[in-house]
Amino acid sequence: MNLKAFYNLSYGVYIVSTLDGERPTGCVANSVMQITSEPPLIALSINHDNFTNPCIAKTKRFCINVLGEKINPLILGLFGFRSGKDFDKFKTVEYEVKQDMPVLSEGCAYFTCELVGKTETATHTVFIGKVIDADVVSSDTPMTYSYYQRVIKAKMPKNAPTYIKENK
Ligand SMILES: Cc1cc2nc3c(=O)[nH]c(=O)nc-3n(C[C@H](O)[C@H](O)[C@H](O)COP(=O)(O)O)c2cc1C
Repeated sequence: MNLKAFYNLSYGVYIVSTLDGERPTGCVANSVMQITSEPPLIALSINHDNFTNPCIAKTKRFCINVLGEKINPLILGLFGFRSGKDFDKFKTVEYEVKQDMPVLSEGCAYFTCELVGKTETATHTVFIGKVIDADVVSSDTPMTYSYYQRVIKAKMPKNAPTYIKENK
């Protein structure tokens, strides 16, 4: 099997935000898709080892922040390569609270979702959320996963669904 075929699947790049109790937290995710528009449902896949996973399960609410091409790459590093378990990712990031969820001021759009279902796989949980609020935040061009690979050129952490071991 040629694992490089997976590089031809298209995605966006997002920060999924939620709460750890009252503290905002979250991580970068590319595995976001719209399932239906009526009702408006969105799915995303989060690794069991990511701190964001139990936080979404407990809070039963999450927010998909669509990232644009002009996003500060340091924010990608902060949310994509560090864990919120023992680190406050939102300390240096501008955000507003909407529908109880942290919404990034640097995003280009957001979708606040209420958890309505989840499915377990061996390594990841697929969360399904019903959109309860959404808005456009800026006119920045939404970043694609391909742009992330070609222009940002950062490696993928092993918890991302698209991670492929280098010797495979
Ligand atoms: C471009 C990119 C896409 C990612 N996509 C996902 C994803 O869809 N699901 C996931 O579980 N982790 C994904 N990750 C990895 C998490 O963002 C990373 O493991 C993060 O450090 C987890 O933080 P947390 O422990 O605070 O939840 C991605 C990382 C990057 C850089």
